[in-house]
Amino acid sequence: MAKKILVTGGTGYIGSHTVVELQESGYNVIIVDNLSNSSIDVLDNIEKISGIKPAFENFDLADKDKTEDFFARTPGIEAIIHFAASKAVGESVEKPLLYYRNNLVSLMNILECQIKFKVLNIVFSSSCTVYGQPEILPVTEQTPRKDAESPYGNTKRVNEDILNDTIAANSQLNAIALRYFNPVGAHPSALIGELPLGIPNNLVPFITQTAAGLRGELKVFGDDYDTPDGSAIRDYINVVDLAKAHVVSIKRLLTSKNKASYEVFNLGTGNGYSVLEMVNGFEKVTGIKLNYKIVARRAGDIEKIWANTTFANKELGWKAEKGLEETLLSAWNWEKNVRGIK
Ligand code: UD1
Repeated sequence: MAKKILVTGGTGYIGSHTVVELQESGYNVIIVDNLSNSSIDVLDNIEKISGIKPAFENFDLADKDKTEDFFARTPGIEAIIHFAASKAVGESVEKPLLYYRNNLVSLMNILECQIKFKVLNIVFSSSCTVYGQPEILPVTEQTPRKDAESPYGNTKRVNEDILNDTIAANSQLNAIALRYFNPVGAHPSALIGELPLGIPNNLVPFITQTAAGLRGELKVFGDDYDTPDGSAIRDYINVVDLAKAHVVSIKRLLTSKNKASYEVFNLGTGNGYSVLEMVNGFEKVTGIKLNYKIVARRAGDIEKIWANTTFANKELGWKAEKGLEETLLSAWNWEKNVRGIK
């Protein structure tokens, strides 16, 4: 029997790619999502790729009664991947309570149900935002975490602590927190990808929407950083590579050997690219000239960060494989598909 995996936030950007990879590895996926930042159509597109329409339930995991009811009538879940969360940094500064409620309460509800219904394994979506601006690069999992710059960032940090403390007090539970660097790109089929509501905050959707004519001009936030070309540096990881790391993490949790009860992994490529390198890379691979302008730094941005991936490579036996050009092209193919551009 295929092992049953609950994917919360499974119609979202990283969630949908992970559902496909899980299905292609033989897992039976059930999605819970409240569609607050995704569309029900994603289920059909997942089916077009994998041939399997995942089971789906629409409710809010911050609702304790609904969450308990779900676990009570859904036996046999072997592991959970918890993506469902709010993720807009700026919005979190304006609506901190919304972010603390959505992101902390949902994890606490899930953990309480895990204990009650004996679902022993969870993978949690964390972020490299917990490192702030590190003193030493690249960052390892031992790099100290810093105070968060935003309520959003703080929910990632506090949720890691909630997991750690809960696992310490419940010896049967196992958890892996995955600290994502900057997930970008889309499935090679161009059937699923990132679809921000409104004006994108993140760089790659802004680039592809500018190329598609939805945005007049890309603003490059700062060219006076201490980096070779002055623009900020990030570790951009292909979302399919990232999704595969979740499958490996699930396998690790489901096989009793090789697991400590709470583990943390950096998921990046180990390479840093500047904003201007991203712009140039996009222009080169698509042949489209981007209209962009250098403007002031964005408040709260760090200068540079990229991952040391040794621990993930060695312990998970996983490595990011896709190069930047392939990734940028996949983002563009997805944007073209969404906008009906030939
Ligand atoms: C942001 C969040 C991070 C979160 C991640 C989720 C902040 C400070 N950090 O990361 O906590 O986990 O999104 O994906 O918001 N840029 C431009 N022009 C744009 C957009 C971005 O120049 O229109 C630059 C930014 O200044 C940054 C780089 O591109 O240097 C990447 O930005 P972005 O994609 O927003 O990701 P992060 O800020 O790294």
